[in-house]
Amino acid sequence: MGHLSRIGVAIDSELLQQFDLFIAGQGYENRSEAFRDLIRERLVSTAVAAPNMDVVGTVTLVYDHHVRLLSEKLTDIQHHHHALIISTIHSHLDHDTCLEVVVVKGKSGPVQKLADLLISCKGVRHGRLVLSAPSLNRPSGKPPTHK
Ligand code: NI
Repeated sequence: MGHLSRIGVAIDSELLQQFDLFIAGQGYENRSEAFRDLIRERLVSTAVAAPNMDVVGTVTLVYDHHVRLLSEKLTDIQHHHHALIISTIHSHLDHDTCLEVVVVKGKSGPVQKLADLLISCKGVRHGRLVLSAPSLNRPSGKPPTHK
């Protein structure tokens, strides 16, 4: 963490009461950390929406592997976009159901298109893309330099 600044925030008492209940349920021990996390979450979710932002993330897929050619199709799509994929984890949940987590890295636009392709395949029961922007967590906001 960088230099700490203290701020005063005026907030409606009822809203604050709801916030305190919410953060207690989430396991926060104090408001400051909860405020910081909410601000970071908002900054990250706004940043990753920009198509040119460098992002990392996961595409989580739950699907029925008995659906004809679905496993092959998901694998084909991943090979076609191999430059955006770091790794894939596959877990056979039960007799019918597979869980696949595809770890992605690249520009936000192409990564989101890849996720849409995978999630929209017929037979995928549930799919979700989660993105983060690592550059936002560096003090300079600039990409790391590799030596
Ligand atoms: Ni499986």
